[in-house]
Amino acid sequence: MRTIDDLDVAGKRVFVRSDLNVPLDGGRITDDGRIRAALPTIEKLRGRGARVVVAAHLGRPKGAPDAAYTLRPVAERLGELLGAPVAFAEDTAGEAARSAVESLDDGGVALLENLRFEPGETSKDDAERGEFADRLAGLADLYVGDGFGAVHRRHASVYDLPARLPHAVGGLVLAEVQVLRRLTEDPQRPYTVVLGGAKVSDKLGVIANLLGTADRLVIGGGMAYTFLKAKGQEVGSSLLEADQVDTVAGYLREAEERGVEIVLPVDVVAAESFSADAPHGPVPVEAIPADRMGLDIGPQSAELFARKVHESRTVFWNGPMGVFEMEPYSHGTRALAGALVDSAAFTVVGGGDSAAAVRALGFDEAGFGHISTGGGASLEYLEGKDLPGIEALKD
Ligand code: 3PG
Repeated sequence: MRTIDDLDVAGKRVFVRSDLNVPLDGGRITDDGRIRAALPTIEKLRGRGARVVVAAHLGRPKGAPDAAYTLRPVAERLGELLGAPVAFAEDTAGEAARSAVESLDDGGVALLENLRFEPGETSKDDAERGEFADRLAGLADLYVGDGFGAVHRRHASVYDLPARLPHAVGGLVLAEVQVLRRLTEDPQRPYTVVLGGAKVSDKLGVIANLLGTADRLVIGGGMAYTFLKAKGQEVGSSLLEADQVDTVAGYLREAEERGVEIVLPVDVVAAESFSADAPHGPVPVEAIPADRMGLDIGPQSAELFARKVHESRTVFWNGPMGVFEMEPYSHGTRALAGALVDSAAFTVVGGGDSAAAVRALGFDEAGFGHISTGGGASLEYLEGKDLPGIEALKD
């Protein structure tokens, strides 16, 4: 793959596909980690006299402009972090985009409006995506793929556009892939993967693959209840994917055959309802009351999980252990993050959400080996899938 250093960018319009999909609360950015992660590539290109055209998606609008998903606040934050003006184009590939790009001087930066305001970006139809990619290609001379969090999407700006312009891989994608390769090719053992988050169905592929590479899977968060059910336990009104119980039971059998240790919670914080104010308390997993839901791992599970982290030389973690946004259910995620920080292992936090959780809970990023900007992307990489946004940069 060519890198930015292989491109002659001075005076050229360089289209940079970044992942600037940041969490927003009423139009306010609550975690700017992905914007900061995008800076080095943009700064490097500016420094070499490129006219930088940044493009990204935000949320999942339905192929039409939607004020709730405008990238305008991101343009403002990008400008603050760069210490330079960022021209914001109010459309993605129309008149406003053309005029913003035409007005750029060497070293200037423009941000296009949300790529997903155009139906062609996410279309399953190759021709429709191709037509949109043609319009994007008209805005630039060169392409740099640097949006690691979106490389698993076969979208026009990720997959079709690089085929239309001389292209290179950005430094963020390179760095992310180097770390993930360490996990897939030659992890220092014991290699522990901690998975959390709500849905087991999102992670079936990666779990199947990890049974062949990891030494130990530690399961917390909402997905743990489907595992507990598969072991025959009652889980009260906790989140349960009943249609996945058989699949998960199969994974448990396979793990045993392959000698992969599966570590499940031994206690959970059970609440009367999904609310920070609801009566709640720790209970052993064998005694979750029928009318209560588990919203966090309990204190004994937190200790157990921390011990497993300390017994490891490589740890990959994706997904919170509980509803960390509500203080009473944040302790499991906090304890796990603390264990990673204290551990001597090579630790990787995978995912926009997990990375945001770590920062929201006040941890210093420097305490982790690597914090990935991509959740779905890093899981699909670990799953062994070809990622369209990386394949497209390979020739
Ligand atoms: C992410 O948040 O993981 C990336 O930005 C990709 O977003 P998507 O899941 O909406 O494609």
